[in-house]
Amino acid sequence: MTNYEHELQATIKEIAVPGKGILAADESSGTCQKRFDSAKIPCIDETRRQYRELFFTTPNISQFIAGIILYEETLYQKAGDAVNGTPFPEFLKKHNIVPGIKVDKGLVPFNDSEIEKATQGLDGLGERLEQYRKVGARFAKWRATYSITDTLPSDGLIQENSESLAKYALTCQQHGIVPIVEPEVLLDGSHTIERCQEVTEKVLHALFAALKKHDVKLEYTILKPSMVISGKNASNRAGIKEVAKRTVEVLKKTVPSTLPTINFLSGGQTPQEATQHLNEMHKLGSLPWNLSFSYARALQEPALKAWQGKQENVAAAQKEFYKRAKLNSLAALGKYDEEMEKQ
Ligand code: 13P
Repeated sequence: MTNYEHELQATIKEIAVPGKGILAADESSGTCQKRFDSAKIPCIDETRRQYRELFFTTPNISQFIAGIILYEETLYQKAGDAVNGTPFPEFLKKHNIVPGIKVDKGLVPFNDSEIEKATQGLDGLGERLEQYRKVGARFAKWRATYSITDTLPSDGLIQENSESLAKYALTCQQHGIVPIVEPEVLLDGSHTIERCQEVTEKVLHALFAALKKHDVKLEYTILKPSMVISGKNASNRAGIKEVAKRTVEVLKKTVPSTLPTINFLSGGQTPQEATQHLNEMHKLGSLPWNLSFSYARALQEPALKAWQGKQENVAAAQKEFYKRAKLNSLAALGKYDEEMEKQ
């Protein structure tokens, strides 16, 4: 660890910057297919490359985006001829954006459950991290998910996921890679915000206990949580202020102040909701950590719609992405205003 302390410190310093966030561009090819299907875009390695390039080459985007999480395929792809065929990680580095990599290997049924899934990917993780490091990755992501019902998530899954997240995080730090730990409480369902708060608190409490048990250094760790929010199909869904208040309440109760930065996922919220919620949290007084975003859908959706897989739409799509990145950057400082959506 000591060998890498300097690198871990430098990476955190570049990412935990007030007003800057992370772009999650690490959709697996399967997830990418779903997103592309909605816009009737064929999903092959070249269209995925073009899609990623659109975001990475958006002019001046590093004002708002400190790091980008890549999928393994993208780590080995190159920017097109217009930008000299530079490998993407190198291209990002040149533009002051830290390249990261999704390292979990997706979800598998947990204990034969029809609903619950655990995350796999610990086998051979150290060797993979060495490879990723060689081509420029400096931080990583591992996502665990929790479905809410009246009785779930089970204690067994919370234990299993927390242990895996902690083992993954320690392995990352031993290889000089800053881990993002992502325990996502899913938005699907009709549960109340109170139920989401209860589950989120339990999940975060277990996660930080496991990180402590495995001696993970919190000062070199990024938390990527979901917000405390009503289920997607709940009646009387809680408003912006309540989401912000309950989310900050849970985070203050469970996340030690030694952790430098919390970067939310958007989880199926609309782009504007995700921005509003983050902004509102910053109106609740001073916070012990940097509080920002690591969105995929909430940063990409309007750009995907504008792009439609066509070269002639790249500039329009980049304009949409620039706008969302800028508004979220302002929200991460509590300086967003709804009027700005009209610009
Ligand atoms: P969303 O912001 O679309 O939830 O994606 C974030 C992410 O990285 C999920 O793992």
